[in-house]
Amino acid sequence: MLLLLSPLCTFLLLLPSSTTTLAQNTTTSSSFWSPPPSSASLPNSTLSPTEQWSNLVGNLIWFYDAQRSGKLDDEPGTTPVGVVGNRVAWRNDSALEDGREEGVDLVGGYYDAGDYLKCTYPLTFVLASISWGAIDFGTAYEKANQTLYLDRMLRYGLDWLIKAHPSASTLFVQVGEGSVDNNYWGGDLTLPLPRPAYQINLTFPGTDAAASASAAFASASFLYSSTPLLTSPTAYSPPQGLANQSYAQTLLGHARELYAFAAGAEPKGVYQKSVPAVKGIYASSGWEDALVWAGLWMALATNESSYYSDALTLYSSSNLSPTSSVFNWDSMTPALPILFTQIALARPGLATSIGIDANLTGWRTVCETMFDGIVEGKGRAKKTSGGLLYYEGDSDAASLNPALNAAMLMLRYAPMASSTAKGESYTTYAQGQIDYVLGNNPMSAPYVVGQNPNSPKNPHSAMAAGGSNIGAIDTDPVVSAYVLYGAVIGGPDKKDRFFDRRSDYVETEIALDYNAPLLTLAAQSLLRLPNTAPFYTTLAADAYSVPPGSPCDEAYPCNESGGLSEAAKIAIAVVVVVVVLGGGLVVGWWWFGWFGGRKGGKGR
Ligand SMILES: *[C@@H]1O[C@H](CO)[C@@H](O)[C@H](O)[C@H]1NC(C)=O
Ligand SMILES: *[C@@H]1O[C@H](CO)[C@@H](O)[C@H](O)[C@H]1NC(C)=O
Repeated sequence: MLLLLSPLCTFLLLLPSSTTTLAQNTTTSSSFWSPPPSSASLPNSTLSPTEQWSNLVGNLIWFYDAQRSGKLDDEPGTTPVGVVGNRVAWRNDSALEDGREEGVDLVGGYYDAGDYLKCTYPLTFVLASISWGAIDFGTAYEKANQTLYLDRMLRYGLDWLIKAHPSASTLFVQVGEGSVDNNYWGGDLTLPLPRPAYQINLTFPGTDAAASASAAFASASFLYSSTPLLTSPTAYSPPQGLANQSYAQTLLGHARELYAFAAGAEPKGVYQKSVPAVKGIYASSGWEDALVWAGLWMALATNESSYYSDALTLYSSSNLSPTSSVFNWDSMTPALPILFTQIALARPGLATSIGIDANLTGWRTVCETMFDGIVEGKGRAKKTSGGLLYYEGDSDAASLNPALNAAMLMLRYAPMASSTAKGESYTTYAQGQIDYVLGNNPMSAPYVVGQNPNSPKNPHSAMAAGGSNIGAIDTDPVVSAYVLYGAVIGGPDKKDRFFDRRSDYVETEIALDYNAPLLTLAAQSLLRLPNTAPFYTTLAADAYSVPPGSPCDEAYPCNESGGLSEAAKIAIAVVVVVVVLGGGLVVGWWWFGWFGGRKGGKGR
C-alpha cells in the first residue's frame, strides 16, 4: 500500500520467555500482556485453540503499540479499564514537536509503516476497519482478555485524530515529508527534520480524507456506545467493557463536523489536489466511495435518516463498482453493499422512515454477485497456484492485503447470505485465505512476525531493524535488533515465493493497514473455531526455507530466464512511453489548466 518507503528488519530474538500464559486485564505496567515466545505455537503446545487465537489477537494489537509516535505512555485518564504504560521496551518517545511549527499539537498517533511518516488517510481507514470488526465480533476481545488493549489501540489513534482536527473544517492529513523520511534509515531517537504538517481546510478541501476521518469517528462512536448492531443472525456484539457514552459523544461531535466539511466544501475532490505532499505516498483515486462510507457510518452512529439518504443517492449516482474493486484505504466500495445489507437487517427504519425501501434483497444480490465472482475466480479475482486471492495491479504492491480484506468482508457477510449454501461457500473461501496467510502456503510461512518460528524475521521496519546504514539494509545488522511481534508483512510474490529480505519492501514492509483485516479475522475465528487452532500450530519449527532464485517485484526487477523476448520488451516499452507521455499531457492540462498550479495547504 505504501509507495514511499524506508526499510527495517527483525530477527526473532525471543523476548524473555517468562510466560506463555494468556492475556489478562491488569492494572499495573509491570504485569501487562506481552507476546508469548513464538515456540508457544508449535505443534506440541498445550494451549487450546481459543488460547492460540487469543495470542494472535494479542500480538496483532501489540504491533500497534510498537508503531506509536509521541509519548509512549498512555495519557492519564485515557484508559478507563486499567493503566498500562509503554509495552514495547525497545521503543522511545519520539517526534515530540510534531505540529509546533504550524501552531498545533500533533504529537502522538501512529507511524504508518516501516518509516516515520504519520498518514491520516490510511490511519482513519484502519480505525474504522478495526471498529467495525469490534462492533460485529467484539465478544472475541472479551474472551481473549484483550478489550483493554483494543481500547488503548483505538484511543491512541482517535485521540491523535482529535488533535489533527483542531477546528470544524481543518484536518491535518500528513506529518513528515516523504523525500526526507525516505532517505532515513535508523532508530526513533534521531528522526530527520523537518517534519512539516499538511492540512486540508475550506480553501484547500479534500473530500475523501475528511469523509474517511468522519467514518473513523462515527464507527468508533458507534462502538463505544456499545449498541449491538446485528443481534441476528450473527449473535455477536461489541465488547461491553468498552462502553463509554461520553467518549462516544465526543467522537460523534468530530464525526459530524468532518462529514459536514466533506459533504459541504467545494469543489469536491481528492485530497492530493490540495496537498501535493501526499502524492506518491497515499494519493487517493476517488472521493465518492469515502463519502458514501462516511454517510453510512453517520447513519448508524446517529440513527438519522438524512445521512442514509445522502449515502444512497451518492452511491447510485457514482456508478461505484464493488465487483471489480479491492477493499482498502483508497477503495471502500466493496464494503458499501455489506453495510447497506447490515442496515437493511438491523436498522431498516433508517430507510423506511423516509419512504425508501431498505432493499435487503437488492443489496444481497449486489454482495453475492461480488462474492460469487471471487469464489468462481471471475474477472480480476484470480488465485495464485498456492491459493492466494490475487488481483493483478493491486496485489503486486502487497499481496496479502487484498486477500485479507476480501476474506474479512466475506466472513462478515456469510451469516447474512440469502442461502446457507452461499454463506458456507464464502466461509470456506475466506477460511482458505486465512489459512494461507497463517502458513498453509508453498513457503510454509505464517506471514505474521514473531508468531511462529517460521514467521518472517526481517520486516522492512526501520525501528525494528536497529541499523542506521541505509546502503546496507539487509546486512547491517544481519540479525534485526527487535522482534516486531504481530506485524503482518506485505506478502509473497505472485508465484507464492517469499524471500524475507528487508530491502524487498514489497514483500516485507509492515503497515498499520496490513494488520487491520487480520485482527478482525482472528477475532471472528476465535468465536467461530473453538476447536481449530490457527494453521501455523501444525508447522514444524523448520518448515520455512528461503526459495531458490530471487524476488520478482517492484523492489527487485525480475531477472529470470524464460521471460519476455527482447522484441516483446521493446513493444511494451513503446506502449509505456506513449501512455506515460499521453497521461502526462492530460494530467498537466488538468492540473495547470483547471487548478492553476496552486500549491497545497501545508501549515496554517
Ligand atoms: C470515558 O472516556 C473518557 C474520555 O476519554 C474518560 O475521561 C473517562 O474516564 C471514561 N469513563 C469511563 C467510565 O471509563
Ligand atoms: C531507544 O533508545 C535506546 C537507547 O536508550 C536504543 O538502544 C534503542 O535502539 C532505541 N530504539 C529505537 C527503536 O530506536
